[in-house]
Amino acid sequence: MTRTQRSFSGRAAALAGRAAALLLLSAAPAALTRAADSSALPLGIPQDLYQFVIPKDNPETPEKIALGKQLFFDTRLSADGTVACSTCHDREKGFVDRFPTSKGIHAQFGKRNAPTVLNAMFQQTFFLDGRAPSLEEQAKLPIVNPIEMGNKDGAAVTAKVAAIPEYVSAFNAVFHQPVSYDNIGRAIAAFERTLVFGDSPFDRFMAGDANAMNESEKRGWSLFNGKGRCMSCHGFSSTQPFFTDNRFHNIGIAAHKANFVELAVKARHMVETGNIKQIDELAIQTDLSELGRFLVTKNYADIGAFKTSGLRNIALTAPYMHDGSLPTLWDVIDHYNKGGIQNPFLDGGMQRLGLSESEIDDLVAFLGSLTSSQFKAEGDAEMQRQKELAATKRPERDTDAAMGRKGDLGDVAPDPDVKDPALIGRTATEK
Ligand code: HEC
Ligand code: HEC
Repeated sequence: MTRTQRSFSGRAAALAGRAAALLLLSAAPAALTRAADSSALPLGIPQDLYQFVIPKDNPETPEKIALGKQLFFDTRLSADGTVACSTCHDREKGFVDRFPTSKGIHAQFGKRNAPTVLNAMFQQTFFLDGRAPSLEEQAKLPIVNPIEMGNKDGAAVTAKVAAIPEYVSAFNAVFHQPVSYDNIGRAIAAFERTLVFGDSPFDRFMAGDANAMNESEKRGWSLFNGKGRCMSCHGFSSTQPFFTDNRFHNIGIAAHKANFVELAVKARHMVETGNIKQIDELAIQTDLSELGRFLVTKNYADIGAFKTSGLRNIALTAPYMHDGSLPTLWDVIDHYNKGGIQNPFLDGGMQRLGLSESEIDDLVAFLGSLTSSQFKAEGDAEMQRQKELAATKRPERDTDAAMGRKGDLGDVAPDPDVKDPALIGRTATEK
């Protein structure tokens, strides 16, 4: 433990003492909270990037982090006192809820799957359609979303929090201001910026320990970069080690159930550009959710496009994709192997991959090597559970499509027949 971590825990404990009635600091294990200085960063997370993403106008301080942590775990932030941020971003589940789509107040289900907040600080935009520009702005929205935490507006939650004496003194101490909606967002964001997780077998492998990954995981890493084409969107480098290009792509999730054009025409008239509160409600509560990035930009090319997910600790966060429609990592690879689901807005990077069953297993094994050491036990158990489930059911698997033997995707099938160039890019059935 570094000196900063020690003094941080000390100061956090002092604040906890003052706010003893809240009893909420105990809800998140102390080991999860990192020092607010970069010397304590885990293996694989670059210090300069960490420093870069801490905003100048919201510096990390131990008191602010402790306050944000209390708020994050406090159900009193919801209209009926039943839902906290941690209800859907549960520490015990890798900061997700493991539902296909999330459940807010009065057991109402939204339209989207909860992403993890682990390493969320390193993203360039927030939410699956990127509608929030910062963690500060992100945190304010679920609080006032009618079916998530259900407060009428920012003033309503401010009044609730300001009625709790412990919070009044904590806000005063941290911000030298009374409780406000903006400062609730700031404190929560400061806490989220402590959720920095690296130190996976993959990180140890990249740091030079050739034995940190097994042979299957290593083969998976080469497939990820090569035949699997994953790297073209889930980019990785030692300076940007989060496996995302921070861009938006239509990879054909939910393409079978959404009539994109009809939805887009409807949305174009309805959405007020720049009104993120309105977009938040449309995304969480209506079928327009499937339009993804289009709701934010109204750009035709963004129809059905979602932010490329980061892949660290991915074993912990099933089910997958923005609608939680893929239960296991095997289903995810089956989806990519057949080139996704055809629709007019499918990203050109989606191509049939021709992966064999053992290559699919290797890619999944590689994804399993991205689990941080703190979550090793949960990660192993989750990989095992998914493996058993995938052994009974592989609804997305379509080997003929994956191998280019059927399907009209208009792409170049794996191993095209070079004897007749005129047939390359056409489907086998047309031959
Ligand atoms: C009812 C469940 C629920 C509650 C409560 C909730 N969230 Fe979320 N959270 C979600 C869902 C679902 C999404 C994705 C929504 C979307 O992209 O449209 C999300 C997205 C996020 C993201 C963006 C992650 C990314 O990859 O872009 C962050 C950060 C986050 N939530 C933090 C919070 C905080 C902080 C709170 C409390 C103030 C909170 N959430 C309350 C369900 C919930
Ligand atoms: C064309 C860009 C693109 C390519 C290529 C691509 N992905 Fe993705 N990936 C995305 C996007 C965008 C999402 C989020 C889609 C959504 O939620 O609808 C995603 C989501 C995922 C998820 C689910 C994340 C979550 O938290 O739900 C996993 C796992 C994943 N990709 C792994 C892979 C692997 C492995 C490969 C290679 C076989 C790959 N991806 C290739 C863009 C891509």
